[in-house]
Amino acid sequence: MTSETTQKFYYPSEEVVKNAAVSGMEAYKALVAEADKDYEGFWGKRAKELIDWQTPFTQVLDESNAPFFKWFADGKLNVSYNCLDRQVQKGLGDKVALIFEGDKGDIAKVTYSDLLTRVSKFANALKAQGVKKGDRVVIYLPMSIEGVVAMQACARIGATHSIVFGGFSAQSLADRINDAGAVLLITSDGQNRGGKALPLKSIADEALASGCPTITSVLVVKRTGAETAMVAGRDIWADEIVAQMSDVCEPEWVEAEHPLFLLYTSGSTGKPKGVQHSTGGYLLHAILTMQYTFDIKPDDVFWCTADIGWVTGHTYITYGPLACGATEIVFEGVPTYPDAGRFWKMIQDHKVSIFYTAPTAIRSLIKAADNTPAVHPKQYDLTSLRLLGSVGEPINPAAWEWYHENIGGGRCPIVDTFWQTETGGHMITPLPGATPLIPGSCTLPFPGIQAAVVDETGTEVPWGQGGILVVKRPWPSMIRNIWGDPERFVKSYYPADFQGKLYLAGDGAIRDKDTGYFTITGRIDDVLNVSGHRMGTMEIESALVAHEKVAEAAVVGRPDDLTGEAIVAFVVLKGARPTGDEAAKVLKELQNWVGQEIGPIAKPKDIRFGENLPKTRSGKIMRRLLRQLAKGEEITQDTSTLENPAILDQLKG
Ligand code: WT7
Repeated sequence: MTSETTQKFYYPSEEVVKNAAVSGMEAYKALVAEADKDYEGFWGKRAKELIDWQTPFTQVLDESNAPFFKWFADGKLNVSYNCLDRQVQKGLGDKVALIFEGDKGDIAKVTYSDLLTRVSKFANALKAQGVKKGDRVVIYLPMSIEGVVAMQACARIGATHSIVFGGFSAQSLADRINDAGAVLLITSDGQNRGGKALPLKSIADEALASGCPTITSVLVVKRTGAETAMVAGRDIWADEIVAQMSDVCEPEWVEAEHPLFLLYTSGSTGKPKGVQHSTGGYLLHAILTMQYTFDIKPDDVFWCTADIGWVTGHTYITYGPLACGATEIVFEGVPTYPDAGRFWKMIQDHKVSIFYTAPTAIRSLIKAADNTPAVHPKQYDLTSLRLLGSVGEPINPAAWEWYHENIGGGRCPIVDTFWQTETGGHMITPLPGATPLIPGSCTLPFPGIQAAVVDETGTEVPWGQGGILVVKRPWPSMIRNIWGDPERFVKSYYPADFQGKLYLAGDGAIRDKDTGYFTITGRIDDVLNVSGHRMGTMEIESALVAHEKVAEAAVVGRPDDLTGEAIVAFVVLKGARPTGDEAAKVLKELQNWVGQEIGPIAKPKDIRFGENLPKTRSGKIMRRLLRQLAKGEEITQDTSTLENPAILDQLKG
C-alpha cells in the first residue's frame, strides 16, 4: 500500500474468516492458482463433487467450435433432481425450502418433500398438455411459490423456460413468446403488489390476441381471485389440472448443454436478445457461488429480493439455494408496503441470515428512514443477519456505508457482486471470509473467472487506467447463444476487434492501482441501468417512433440519485414543436405510450421536444452532446458542425 491510498478496508472478523467456505486471503489465492494451473481440472473437479450426474461426463471443456463453447457435454443430469430429489434423499425432506410471504403478509412454508410433490404434479400437468423435452414454455407470473414450481417443473421435463417479468407489457410478452416459439404460457389471474391487485391474465390475453400462433395452451394460476375470462379449448386453471396429476414424475435426463432457460435482455439494438443458458455448467456456478460468495450453511435463512423475472431470481432463488438445500424467502410484495420498514420487519420475523438486494432499494430505504423514524432499521432486530449482498448496479460508497452500519450492524461483510444475465452467476465479487472490502468496488474475480481490463485492441491496460471489461477464458455458466441468432451472439460477445478471443461484457472498468480491485464504471454500449433494470436506448427509441405523433427520437441516460440512471428522451414531433401545457400533455401521452409498449420501467423520466435533433453534417445523432444536455452540463463538444445550432436551447430542458 502506498501513502496515496487513503481507502479504508473493511476486514472480516476472525469468526467470519474461521467459519467461511473460503477462509482467508491465502485460501482465495490458492483457488485462483489452482484454476490458473489446471483450468479444466478446477472446474471438472467441482462439477463432479457438486452435481449428481445420471451419466458422468468425460470431457470438461470443448473449445472446438469457439465461441460456442461446451462444458461437460457428454454428461447427463437433471436440475430439478439436483434441487429436490437429492435433498429429500439426504434426509432434508422435512426441511423448509421456501418461506413465502405475500404482499398482504400471508405466510406459507413449503418443505423440500412438499416442493418435490408440487413440482412433480405440475410437471405432469405440463406433459399432459403435450409439452416435451426441448419445447419452450413462457412463464408470466408474479413472485410466488407457483413461479418457482413452474420453473422447476420445466427443468424436470427438459422443457426450456423463458420468464417474462410481470411488469412487461402485452407487446413485450408477445414478442418474447414469438421469438422463442413457445408452445405453452403459464400466467395467473393477477398479482398483488403494494396493496393493489394488478391484472396479468388480461395482459396475457391481449398479447395472445395480437398473434402468437405457436401457443396451444395457457395454464392460469389463481392468486388474486379476480374475475378472469377463460378461452375455451386454450385456457386451463392450473390448480384444477394439477390436482388430477400423479405426484411422481421421473426426471428427464438431459445433456449438460441442453438449454435450461432463455431469458430476454436488452442489447444495443431495438430487439431484446434471448440469452440461452445451459444445464450443467449453469447449475455448477449457481452452486459454487452459493458456497463461496454466500458461504451458505445448513442453518441459514437466505433472502434474495429479486424477482424471478430477472436472472438474479433464476440463479439465487429458483436454482442456487435449492440445489444447496437451503431455506429461503420468496417475497411477493414491494419494499415500501405497507411501509418502508417491510424488508427490515421480514428480516426480523424470519430471522434472515443472508440478505441480497439492489442498491436502488437501499437508496430509497435510506431516504425513507431519514424521513420517517418509525421505519428506520434501528427499530427492528436485525441481529440474525451475518452477510449482506448487493447486485445489479454499482453501489455508491455512501449507500454501502449505510447498509454496512444500519443493516449489517457493522459486523456483516457486504458482497458487491458484479455479473450479468449472460454470465449466469457472480463474476467479480468479494468472498466474505477472504476479501478485505472497499466500498464501491466489487473487488476481485471469482476463483476460475479470468476477468481483465483491456484497451480497444484487446491489450490489458495497467492498473489505475480505465478500459473495457472482458473475460479471457470461457466459464461453465456463460451464455451459450442468442436464441435463433448465432451471428448476433458472436458479434455482441466475441467481437472481431478482439479476434473473437475475449468475452465482451459491455461494461467499462478500472482496477485500483495498488490492490488490483475492480470498479465498474458503467456500460459502454447503448444500454441503460435504471433501478438495476437493464434497458436498451434503441428499444425505447423504437417504441417512441411507433407513436403516430413522433417523427424522431433519441434516448440517453443521466445519473440519478435514486435510480442510478434515469431515461431522458429527445423527441421531434411530426407537427409543430409543443410548448407549455401542450408539451406537458404530449409528454404524459408519450410516457404512457412507452409504458404500454414496453412496460412501466421503460418510461422516460424526462422528454424534451426540439424542432430537430443535433446531428453531424453526415446525419449522425450527436449522442455525447445529448448526454451533456440531459445532465444539464455545459456543452464542451464542438458544435460548429451542427446542422442547426439553434435547437440546443430548445433541448436544454
Ligand atoms: C449489468 C447487467 C447481475 C444480475 C442483475 C443484472 C450492471 C450488475 C453490478 C455490480 C456494478 C453492476 C452492469 C452489468 N451490474 N451488477 N455489482 N456493480 N454494475 O443483470 O440485467 O444482465 O445487467 O448490470 O452494468 O453489465 P443484467
